[in-house]
Amino acid sequence: MKVRLSLADPLSIECPLLALPVFGGDNGLTAEAERADDLLDGAFARARHAGDFRGKAEEDLLFYAPEGEERPHRILFVGLGDRSALSAEDVRVAVAQAVRRAESLRLTRLAVHLPADLGVDAAEATKAAAEGGVLAAWDFRELKSEGDARLEAGSSADAGDPKPPVEELTLAAAGDPATLGQALRTGRAFAEGECLARRLQWRPANIATPSHLAEIAADLAGEYGFTSRILGPGELEAEGMRAILAVSAGSDEEPRLIVLEHRGGPEDGPLIALVGKGLTFDAGGISIKPALGMEDMKYDMSGGAAVLGAMRAIGELAPAVNVIGVIPSSENLLSGRATKPGDIIRTRAGKTVEVVNTDAEGRLILADALSYVVDRYSPEAVVDCATLTGACVIALGHHASAVLGNDETLVTELREAGDRAWQRCWPLPLWKPYRKQLDCPAADLKNVGGRPAGTITAALFLSEFVGKTRWAHLDIAGTAYGDPVAPYQRKGGFGTPTRLLLEWVWHRAG
Ligand code: BES
Ligand code: MN
Ligand code: ZN
Repeated sequence: MKVRLSLADPLSIECPLLALPVFGGDNGLTAEAERADDLLDGAFARARHAGDFRGKAEEDLLFYAPEGEERPHRILFVGLGDRSALSAEDVRVAVAQAVRRAESLRLTRLAVHLPADLGVDAAEATKAAAEGGVLAAWDFRELKSEGDARLEAGSSADAGDPKPPVEELTLAAAGDPATLGQALRTGRAFAEGECLARRLQWRPANIATPSHLAEIAADLAGEYGFTSRILGPGELEAEGMRAILAVSAGSDEEPRLIVLEHRGGPEDGPLIALVGKGLTFDAGGISIKPALGMEDMKYDMSGGAAVLGAMRAIGELAPAVNVIGVIPSSENLLSGRATKPGDIIRTRAGKTVEVVNTDAEGRLILADALSYVVDRYSPEAVVDCATLTGACVIALGHHASAVLGNDETLVTELREAGDRAWQRCWPLPLWKPYRKQLDCPAADLKNVGGRPAGTITAALFLSEFVGKTRWAHLDIAGTAYGDPVAPYQRKGGFGTPTRLLLEWVWHRAG
């Protein structure tokens, strides 16, 4: 979607739809909303008086403006919620709401007013508005074969009722155009990165294979000048990455370890690493999962998708930091060659692991990736994200990822980044006593520590492979996909935590 900035009076913008945000409460109208109501002969005031519009978040009301030159054809009042507690997320949601309303009206263009007195910094609001707009407009259409033909037919009663994509969003704001323009570009790039993550998530496992993710990474490298390094089975073997190979043993698709490198900081300056689980389909292996809902395990590469999405935005905006994106990618299937429960493997780091359950495969591929990253790149900090445990969904549901790490400051940075992106994460304790659950008579450790505290023991497993490097882990099993919890999401992959990672990288860039 195109996003433009306009400093003009929003009521003078000729467009099919203008959205005007309105705060909750009695004095919630902005000057522009008052003037729009005058244009409508007080129809909106009457609606408010009747109690039909209170200005709550995700509330809207549509009016048709009288005909005239240089004015919007439709006016949509959009609720913002309580003025005193307004956040960037309220702006994201309001703009998304307007985009979705335009979509359901089959309009491909709209304008949204960003009031000056939002109580949120104007640049922050502009960035959030661009994010909300781009994310709300995004849809996955590439595998709908007759979609275009049905759109042209124009009937709204046909199966699936396809809507044309919203293509153009004008943000009507007031302030310094250079500052607001920069904020708009940042928000748009963050959101477009997240849309790449979504696209990869939504692609089914017969398309989004490990080698497909590697091709996408190579394309990003070509486009943005990243150094890329892609390891296949031979290189993985040479590197001693037997854990990744053990997970992919039951599969005909080859595994990959993908590394993308952005050098925006000083040549020998510190480097940070983003690592994402890229398990393109998790059947559980010999410890096979139940059939019900197994199709969702195409989303088990969501962490890797978010890292690729973040790298796209990093390429687009070129921040002054050194950052690598690393994705271990494999399938987890069953065959006569598959790893069996009880098998003992030697990881790249040299530690031996008894694979008591082949469905705990994410920690295995991440173990090799993490040890590779800390040994080869000596990063100042490593953040990994992974759909790692069902236990995390039980603990935190769908509104927070879990964050665990060996460095309090890093955990705090990630919590703050998550708050800014509204991709929130909440800490669980990475305490030593839990480590006993991974003790193993025959090997250095086993890959599962039983049912209690499953998210914590999974993170403790990972911690064994980062040495003394500052590291934190995000368990995104409950937050990466599912039923939408915001109007800028659709049922499916959300692209999270792409923007959390980006907020963190930007905080580091200063
Ligand atoms: N990919 C799953 C975790 C998962 C579960 C993600 C549900 C999203 C929704 C992971 O590989 C897995 O299977 N974990 C097991 C670990 C268990 C065997 C210790 C789990 O959580 O059941
Ligand atoms: Mn699994
Ligand atoms: Zn998995």
